[in-house]
Amino acid sequence: MSCISVAIDGPSASGKSTIAKLLAKKLGYIYIDTGAMYRAYTLACLKNNIDCKDEEKSEALIGKITIGFNSLNHVTIDGIDVESEIRKNDVADNVSYIASYKNIRLFLVASQREFAKNNNIIMDGRDIGTYVLQDATIKFYQIADVNERARRRYKENIEKGIVCTFEDCLTNLNKRDYIDSHRSFCPLRKAEDSIEINTTNLNIEDVLNMMLLYMKERGLLNE
Ligand code: DC
Repeated sequence: MSCISVAIDGPSASGKSTIAKLLAKKLGYIYIDTGAMYRAYTLACLKNNIDCKDEEKSEALIGKITIGFNSLNHVTIDGIDVESEIRKNDVADNVSYIASYKNIRLFLVASQREFAKNNNIIMDGRDIGTYVLQDATIKFYQIADVNERARRRYKENIEKGIVCTFEDCLTNLNKRDYIDSHRSFCPLRKAEDSIEINTTNLNIEDVLNMMLLYMKERGLLNE
């Protein structure tokens, strides 16, 4: 069988990366967190004192930095592990601007498509099923109520020692939902052939089992 690609799209904090990581581990596939790549680019701009609201200035790093993943599956900039830095508030506040710039997207999409060559992969993001891997073997669109997503993000941040309130998380998610779904190039939307899963009232195991069942039904699992 040729390589299998699983696309998981959906809004911020809908649980995509948690599920994608578990699914990748269970199936022995490579996991690519494309959101981490947009965050890493944003971090690189901030470190270079580039105003992320300025498209032209932000484009200055295209082709000048390499964003990838190390053996721990942590995102890297020029080989340096920046996984914890990209989760901080200043990156979260600026990443939607960076993700709305066409040339920066094209730069990162090229690497994403490269990762998908010759590997079984799980890739999560906003435009994987609609743009990056339009021919993905199976596509999921994961959603959840915004209050539940803010609750999850708040809990995650507190566990990581990131200072914030529930209201901060809710405001940030509403802002990012709006920007992500209203940008002109590759906005967040469900691909027509994507399977929608609403995780508001589901636990992680339920979602994982649902996805495995869909994959099994399509003959994508060996057992
Ligand atoms: O999934 P995340 O919250 O780490 O994503 C960070 C930001 O990157 C988010 O605001 C949307 C953007 N993004 C995107 O536009 N396209 C992707 N494929 C992945 C993320």
